[in-house]
Amino acid sequence: MATINTSAKPSAHSDPWRPNYHLTASQGLINDPNGFSFHNGRFQLFYQWNPFGCDHKNKHWGHFSSSDLVHWDSHQVALAPGDWFDKDGCYSGTAAIEDESLCLYYTGNVREGERRLSYQCKAVQQADGSFKKLGPLNLPKLNGYTGHVRDPKLLRWQDQTWIILGAQTTNLEGGICLLQKQQEQWVKKGFISKDISLGKAQTAYMWECPDLFELDQQWLLLACPQGVSVEQAEYTNQNLSGYFCADMQQGPAHFKITSEFQLLDHGFEFYAPQVLQHQGESTLIAWLGLPDNFAHPTVDYQWTQILSMPRRLSWKDGVLQQLPAEQLTTLMHAPQLTQYIAGKHQLEHLSNSCVIDLELSSVSKLQLLIANGDDNLNIQWLNNELQIDRTNLGPKGADTLRRYQPRDGSLRQLLLFIDHSSFELFVNHGETVMSGRIFPNEAWNRVQFNLFDGQATLQTSQMLSSDDKEGNDE
Ligand code: FRU
Repeated sequence: MATINTSAKPSAHSDPWRPNYHLTASQGLINDPNGFSFHNGRFQLFYQWNPFGCDHKNKHWGHFSSSDLVHWDSHQVALAPGDWFDKDGCYSGTAAIEDESLCLYYTGNVREGERRLSYQCKAVQQADGSFKKLGPLNLPKLNGYTGHVRDPKLLRWQDQTWIILGAQTTNLEGGICLLQKQQEQWVKKGFISKDISLGKAQTAYMWECPDLFELDQQWLLLACPQGVSVEQAEYTNQNLSGYFCADMQQGPAHFKITSEFQLLDHGFEFYAPQVLQHQGESTLIAWLGLPDNFAHPTVDYQWTQILSMPRRLSWKDGVLQQLPAEQLTTLMHAPQLTQYIAGKHQLEHLSNSCVIDLELSSVSKLQLLIANGDDNLNIQWLNNELQIDRTNLGPKGADTLRRYQPRDGSLRQLLLFIDHSSFELFVNHGETVMSGRIFPNEAWNRVQFNLFDGQATLQTSQMLSSDDKEGNDE
């Protein structure tokens, strides 16, 4: 295996799109977060990583840890492909603490010509921090599935241990496959799927990265169905990420999906989320990217793709609510508060790493124009619809417009985080988020806020870099 220098600061660090407080790797491509867990007093976060290039090859597990979800240290590579059971990639999975050791459950990807084989594997952390591969789990033969069975989530329910896997049947139907551990043997317990009704009922050909957990007394199944398009001309993304409500009253053996599919993020790029539940808090981190392969200009700087900010989850009024993890406020610098009435306003002193928080009252029309030369990130509230237009700023060839209609038809709050080449817009105190990537060629030179009626209170802050910490080795 080639040597990887995880602490190098290559040319990636000199480019204008490098994030200030979103996680990415020092070089190469990252995608899904993996193994999000808490161990030895720290948050542990792994990620899919090709350290050797900006393409989807050579998938390793990179490793960060943090005491506060904001300042992260980078560690040696946790898993590298190369054994017979993972020779073509150490694919996504989760972590579990067993006998006080951190264990990783992942998919070993193996290609034999056109054929793909998937092995669900385990590794355990050693005293020196490295991970020892224990090889494939002894699962029964998964008849009725193609080689696309991956992304294990280990689940404890009462005193039972389960694994759920993203899966594709030989009829090319996506869903999840459930297995239960019974006296050291893994036993198949069925396949669960549902048509995704987003305008039209359609069957996804594969579900990736499932997660299953209880949030404020509601069980939720997260999944990333592939091959389903939302019925809007401008929405061509076929890789969705969302959730279903689940009935788990009698445990995973009688598991049922009880709701329609709901998108987790109504923006452009968002995929493969993982949820960590720790000390009563549920935190989600996702990939702010998509399997669709749109090249990003950062490839010229030898890195590509980032993770989302940590988001705090709650279940309220039948909706999964998402807010930025409150630890992020430690990065907010010099907040400025202003009250506005209808009119055109220029917002001063905003950099490419900032937060804009707008509390709104009786507003039926507004526009937030974040301009870079002639190009704008254009956020509009109009006819009870929120729209984000990123024409000329998004990845080349990717969608440029997203719309969202709030559940009760009104807009009460917008909380916008900008970090050089990304934004995450939280709507109505967490009712949804709209996220995406943008690649402005220069710094924002004009931020204009047009309020057509009603009133607004606006707070802006610069966001400090999450690297600004003594003792941070990255
Ligand atoms: C989702 C995914 C997973 C797979 C991993 C490979 O983005 O395709 O299903 O395990 O990425 O990097």
